[in-house]
Amino acid sequence: MIIARHGASLALLVLSAIALLASTAASLGVVSFDYGADSLKTALIKPGMTPDVVLTRDSKRKLPAVVAWKMQDRSYGTDALNLATRYPGDSYPAAKLLLGRSFSDQAVASRYARLLAANLTATDRNTFAVTRATDYTLDNSGPDTHTAEELVGMQLSHAKMLAEETADEKLKVTYPGTIGTFGGLDAVVTVPAYWTASERQAIFDSATLAGFRPRIVSDAAAAATSFALSRNFPTPELHLLYDSGHSATRASLVRFSTKSFPTQDLFGTSLKEHTFIEVLSVGWSRDSGGLALDDILRQLLVQKFKENSREDIEANPRAMAKLLLSASKAKHVLSANSDARVNIEGLINDVDFRTSVTREEFEAAVSKQKLDQAFSSVVADALKRGGNAKMSDLSSVILIGGTSRVPLVQKSLSTAGVPANLIAQNLNADEAIALGAGFYGASFNPQLKMKPMRVADVNAYPIVLRESDGKEELLWKGSPETFEEEVKARYYDGATEDFSFEIEYGPGAEKLLSDGEFERPLYRVEVEEINNTLAALKAAGELSKVETSVNVSIASRPLGAVVVESAWLTVKPKKGGVVGALRNFFGGSAAGDEADSAAAVDVDAAGSEASADNATNVSSATNSSSTPVADALHPRHVRLSVKTIPLGSIKPMSGETQTKSKDKLYLADAAARRKLQTEEVRNKLESYIYRVRELTSSDAPAGFVAASKPAEREKMAKLAGEIGEWLSAGGKSVERASAEELRGKLGSLEKLVQPVERRQAEARGRKSASSKMNRVLSDARDFLTQADANLTEAVASGTSSRFARTDLDALETQIKAEGDWFAKVEKEQEKKGQDEEPAWRVEEVEKRSKKLADKVGKLKKRRIPKTRPVASGKRGDNKTSSSSSSSTASAADETPKHEEL
Ligand SMILES: *[C@@H]1O[C@H](CO)[C@@H](O)[C@H](O)[C@H]1NC(C)=O
Ligand SMILES: *[C@@H]1O[C@H](CO)[C@@H](O)[C@H](O)[C@H]1NC(C)=O
Ligand SMILES: *[C@@H]1O[C@H](CO)[C@@H](O)[C@H](O)[C@H]1NC(C)=O
Ligand SMILES: *[C@@H]1O[C@H](CO)[C@@H](O)[C@H](O)[C@H]1NC(C)=O
Ligand SMILES: *[C@@H]1O[C@H](CO)[C@@H](O)[C@H](O)[C@H]1NC(C)=O
Ligand SMILES: *[C@@H]1O[C@H](CO)[C@@H](O)[C@H](O)[C@H]1NC(C)=O
Ligand SMILES: *[C@@H]1O[C@H](CO)[C@@H](O)[C@H](O)[C@H]1NC(C)=O
Ligand SMILES: *[C@@H]1O[C@H](CO)[C@@H](O)[C@H](O)[C@H]1NC(C)=O
Repeated sequence: MIIARHGASLALLVLSAIALLASTAASLGVVSFDYGADSLKTALIKPGMTPDVVLTRDSKRKLPAVVAWKMQDRSYGTDALNLATRYPGDSYPAAKLLLGRSFSDQAVASRYARLLAANLTATDRNTFAVTRATDYTLDNSGPDTHTAEELVGMQLSHAKMLAEETADEKLKVTYPGTIGTFGGLDAVVTVPAYWTASERQAIFDSATLAGFRPRIVSDAAAAATSFALSRNFPTPELHLLYDSGHSATRASLVRFSTKSFPTQDLFGTSLKEHTFIEVLSVGWSRDSGGLALDDILRQLLVQKFKENSREDIEANPRAMAKLLLSASKAKHVLSANSDARVNIEGLINDVDFRTSVTREEFEAAVSKQKLDQAFSSVVADALKRGGNAKMSDLSSVILIGGTSRVPLVQKSLSTAGVPANLIAQNLNADEAIALGAGFYGASFNPQLKMKPMRVADVNAYPIVLRESDGKEELLWKGSPETFEEEVKARYYDGATEDFSFEIEYGPGAEKLLSDGEFERPLYRVEVEEINNTLAALKAAGELSKVETSVNVSIASRPLGAVVVESAWLTVKPKKGGVVGALRNFFGGSAAGDEADSAAAVDVDAAGSEASADNATNVSSATNSSSTPVADALHPRHVRLSVKTIPLGSIKPMSGETQTKSKDKLYLADAAARRKLQTEEVRNKLESYIYRVRELTSSDAPAGFVAASKPAEREKMAKLAGEIGEWLSAGGKSVERASAEELRGKLGSLEKLVQPVERRQAEARGRKSASSKMNRVLSDARDFLTQADANLTEAVASGTSSRFARTDLDALETQIKAEGDWFAKVEKEQEKKGQDEEPAWRVEEVEKRSKKLADKVGKLKKRRIPKTRPVASGKRGDNKTSSSSSSSTASAADETPKHEEL
């Protein structure tokens, strides 16, 4: 029976202990992802690079959060966006809205389906998937289905690739708890502060599919980090972050202060001042954002369309997609103007649609749907949940998010009682979150030498633990308490049997969770292996002679989701005799007997029942009659096995599902890469065929004709014709041709053309190479004559010379060799036609003439005398002077001839 329970808090993650290890790693940094409903922004923080967002393939600062297919071809970002109006059923924007939501929550489905045309289907985990409208599979196995996690995973994978290209380094794959500790590129993904455990788990799973396991941070904490970067807070300040985005609007209350934290550095642990950021609370409206405004404008447009047409435009997904796009554009125009013109060509059945909307009409429609109230109510909610803060407590209200620029949203702020002078627009509204998340990640790594910052993230929902006897205890209180402590330890003293407990959203969460069908229960946790471990003691009736205790470590990872990380059973003998079963249990030997006891103590029972039993039994053989004192025995620690059973209607991704999805994404990526390569080669081949056609036509360039024989040109023309016909005929053999195959065809054609082109190039370069060689030869000869004279005279007059005889001899030999060789090949070349392989190559002659010119140049530049005046008495003794004396002997005007070098 469980006798006593109590909770205790573990300190913040201890990161610094291993931080020094990072110093051996070559590189480090953080890649952060701000995955929104309309765009994905990625930032890179890396030493030696300016912290910045990662540019997309088309050099944009954000990637539209859309993945779309045209037949089998997948595209991202702007390309995908461009497909949205043409293939509304095959393009999937705003997948964020589907992540971690229950398929049975029809509010989610109907909202998504109304706005965006995708065909939503359920997974066997009761989550959302999309099904393509048409079967494009090669084996006709039915239209492809992609889960929301896969859609998001694909986009994260694409963004990851862009970041890795920019960083010239791969993102590392580690557990999120180790952020900042092992060097390499860490990953951070932002989530709306109000996201529930299943939503957080879903984006974490998406990232896992993309090949990394990020640290999760709320968008509020990320933006607050951006804000704090350039500011100091000698006295605590409260600020409200008002973030109105594409799908939702939220206000977060943040306290900034300065606080000392133990910090480890090379010299040990000391207290160090940090900027301390606490996200105390959040107020939100899931359905009020840019998309909702677009929808209202679209409804207005539909109304106006219907005034003049009887077409059932709402039943036409393509027309509705076009209208949504125009509505969004009109919304931007209306932010700065009092009316907006809308002009859509071929909206439906090739009929154009022209109309205009005024800001007045728009705002009236918004307040009719009470959307303006939603924009303002989030402010009061955040203040109330943040410990009943008052407007007058605030230092400022900071606006971020694209929709916060819309005038009616700013009006809603004033309705909410925010004085105009409190409103600050000093953060980059679009990029504060992505960059802030990067700095947040960097704050974990002392090596990145950031301003010291510590962030306690918002904890929007209370979380309770309910024991099997119904007793509840708060694990995390929820706002204004933050997630400063991410790990909680619980102790069950006296536990002698397997037990279970449940983790749920706490009291009051229902109200917070009411927007959608959320469920309070989260997980049932079953702690096992206690019965098994204690079976032998129980059987022997010796249980009363030991003290037992179980500790359970419960962590919020990913932040906002809950996992039980470990459970341990500790068994201590009570004072008194230790005999029989008890003695066996503790390993059958006294503590002094180190080797034996260690073997028995470290048994890990987490694995299987069998090993637990065997462990209990392990020392039966060493039954001895001695009776050691209980205190001398080591307590036994047994790691227990923990089963976590999700209780909500959404089942988490199993390992198997995850592996399958990962493989699927990997294969799709590989196929896309192959396809890209193949396309590149095919384009090259096509343009090469055009070139060959031109080169072999009647108006081919004269140089090419001169450099080739008619038979050669015929052969090229024939081959180019054959390949060209094959290509333009199309069909399966072309469609399925691999890059290799195409490259082979290109190669066979190049093999015919390139020799001719080389000849042309030779002919063009020949004259200058030849005259250069002749000039170098004659220069060299002149120099040799002068130098020879200088040396001879120096020797004769007993003064010094810069030249040595051996050098000049070697030079002379080289001049002769080059001169003879070049004269010979020049003569051969004279007999060659332009369409023949040349007798000498420009490249070789240039190499040879350069070598000779360099040699002469070196000798010319020589300053230090090589030949010294001959000392009167000691000629023969000196090496240098002996060489010059020998040349003196062979007369002044005759240079000795050498055979070979
Ligand atoms: C949606 O998907 C289901 C299941 O594949 C299919 O039966 C249905 O025809 C699809 N609907 C549309 C509009 O594509
Ligand atoms: C639980 O017990 C094990 C074994 O004694 C120990 O290693 C671990 O640190 C304890 N955990 C907590 C949370 O107290
Ligand atoms: C553990 O033992 C207790 C009684 O000793 C029993 O009631 C319980 O069912 C057992 N649990 C398991 C999982 O076997
Ligand atoms: C545990 O003991 C059982 C029965 O004695 C045996 O079948 C099993 O192989 C043992 N397992 C281990 C891990 O030793
Ligand atoms: C425990 O030990 C006894 C005696 O050595 C042996 O007979 C029994 O099979 C063992 N039990 C297990 C489960 O290994
Ligand atoms: C253990 O030792 C006791 C006393 O010497 C003996 O009676 C008993 O049979 C032994 N048990 C085993 C399993 O050897
Ligand atoms: C030889 O060269 C040196 C150095 O350039 C020069 O000073 C000297 O006058 C030259 N002598 C003759 C004879 O050319
Ligand atoms: C050889 O010439 C060098 C350079 O002038 C001089 O320093 C050295 O003393 C001479 N050696 C003899 C043996 O004269």
